[in-house]
Amino acid sequence: MSLLEAIADVGRDPGTGGYRRSAWSDADMALREWFAGEAQQRGLALVEDGNGNQLAWWGADPAEGHDALLLGSHLDSVPDGGAYDGPLGVVSSLAAVDALQRDGFRPARPVVVANFADEEGARFGVACAGSRLAAGALAPERALALRDRDGRSLAEVVRARGRDPEAVGPAEWLTRVGTFVELHVEQGRSLVHDGAAVGVASAIWPHGRWRFDFRGEANHAGATPMPDRHDPVQAFAATVLAARRLATAAGARATFGRLAVEPGGTNAIPSRVQAWLDSRAAGEADLAELVAAVTAAARAAAEEDGTSVEVVAESVSPAVSFDAGLRDRLATLLDAPVLPTGAGHDAGVLSPLLPTAMLFVRNPTGVSHAPSEFASDEDCAAGVEALTAVVRDLAGAS
Ligand code: GLV
Ligand code: MN
Ligand code: MN
Repeated sequence: MSLLEAIADVGRDPGTGGYRRSAWSDADMALREWFAGEAQQRGLALVEDGNGNQLAWWGADPAEGHDALLLGSHLDSVPDGGAYDGPLGVVSSLAAVDALQRDGFRPARPVVVANFADEEGARFGVACAGSRLAAGALAPERALALRDRDGRSLAEVVRARGRDPEAVGPAEWLTRVGTFVELHVEQGRSLVHDGAAVGVASAIWPHGRWRFDFRGEANHAGATPMPDRHDPVQAFAATVLAARRLATAAGARATFGRLAVEPGGTNAIPSRVQAWLDSRAAGEADLAELVAAVTAAARAAAEEDGTSVEVVAESVSPAVSFDAGLRDRLATLLDAPVLPTGAGHDAGVLSPLLPTAMLFVRNPTGVSHAPSEFASDEDCAAGVEALTAVVRDLAGAS
């Protein structure tokens, strides 16, 4: 709790109490510095890869280690995020290292604590950009050309932070990792129903982000009769309602959480609406079908008004089934329930490359990506205990 407390004020909006820690922001840079200091205090060798991922190595020279056990999560947040999504996994990993070091535990394989860069994709649009780049699942040229809301490219931002855009791309350290276990606050209430403080992940729903670009014709709000308008907001509004209807019928999820209306005058019909759809479903075919149906609804509505819409996929993540052997081993070790999630994680990105598992810590309200996200001190401590047991099991003397 003292580790979480140490960063409690970083990037916190005093009005809402939520966190604004987007990738490469001042708040994110302060958190990186904090993480580097924590690594140093524990005698962990810190490496930052070309993508901004920080890795703190224990028990081996980072240049020589192999088959490492990777822990950690991310410190960035969505706009107005909670205190736990990301940071709980990082601080729990540091606390597990503390507990093991106090006990004189000597890892039989390197143990590495990660702070992954830009997990939320809140600034540049692509989720888990740091782990995707490290894994070779996102092309460096594409990533470097991504732009934030102010029109700054990732390349410019990385350079302004004193990093080399040429270094962005697949990371060598990942070839020396054998297993990844990410602890995360639960983003739902399964563990409340199970009556358990800690659970083990089974799967992640396929999910993605699509940008809907509606274009119409700007005109005067008073002088333009209703039948003469080409107002792109109308098609957008119809699309939102269709998305709710279609997702509800499919047992899936559809959210338009970000919107930009141009030029944004109260007394002017807009010329353009950009709206970002986040959609998720139990299966990849269901998700593709849902997005196709929402797109068709948007096209039909735009056509009716003499406007247009283009849809571009910005970030798509396939279904993930975590390694069954590791999942069962951890569930048995911890006597913990197994549960799926609709939220995305770096563990999902790395799961095709190496055995990967996740531990979830109970969240009494189930709320996440909002300031009221919560986990009790007791449950956070249970999470650290569980992670410590996992490290003993996976990195203990054989
Ligand atoms: C990340 O938290 C996501 O699921 O969007
Ligand atoms: Mn998140
Ligand atoms: Mn997260």
